[in-house]
Amino acid sequence: MRYDIVSIFPESLEGLLSIGVIGQARAAGQIEIHLHDLRDYTDDPHRMVDDRPYGGGAGMLMKVEPFVRAIEAIREQAATRLPAVLMSPHGRLLRHEVAAEWAQGDGLILLCGRYEGVDERLLSFIDGEVSIGDYVLAGGEVAAAVVVEATARLTPGVVGKYDSVASDSFFSGQRLGSPQYTRPPEFRGLTVPEVLLSGDHAKIDAFRQRAAWEKTARNRPDLLGLQVEDGGSDG
Ligand code: ADE
Repeated sequence: MRYDIVSIFPESLEGLLSIGVIGQARAAGQIEIHLHDLRDYTDDPHRMVDDRPYGGGAGMLMKVEPFVRAIEAIREQAATRLPAVLMSPHGRLLRHEVAAEWAQGDGLILLCGRYEGVDERLLSFIDGEVSIGDYVLAGGEVAAAVVVEATARLTPGVVGKYDSVASDSFFSGQRLGSPQYTRPPEFRGLTVPEVLLSGDHAKIDAFRQRAAWEKTARNRPDLLGLQVEDGGSDG
């Protein structure tokens, strides 16, 4: 099992992922962990990884291009096509079943966000978003460590027996944030929704509410009291 973790603070994970069962599994060659600095995949002198959100709003968003370049570089190194997953409070909930499924694979590319989120177009280049629970962390690094621990211990030989991951706390009636976009306005054929460039705040609000509802219905139908299908956030 090979893990590639992309972060603006890669060094923050080295200690945590060198200890205990994970450290032993690395030393024994059962798992490999590669930490990547997202700024190494920028192409400007300031090594910028964030920018202002289109349509206005508080805070900064992470740009799409450095993440996509990192994924492409990692996929060139890895023997097989590893799934890329964004750590995000807007993703489907990490549950035992998800961890067990990933543990059957060859590895994972784990992408760590920071700031107010990530340009939504990143989703066109990755295999999914995962949340470790219904709370917002300062960044994806801790969540990436959770994914490594939850999956590595289910990898044959690492712990030696299957075990269940503790279930997460839960709250209902919440909706997820709407998709967001930052520069550039066009990336590899993917454009920012027109309305966000319009400056019409009433329209932008309406768009965001609808898009947030659609995204919630898609990723977390349980939060809307909708029926959860197999393969949805619940499984
Ligand atoms: N980044 C911020 N909050 C997160 C969460 N709950 N799960 C995964 N990544 C996150």
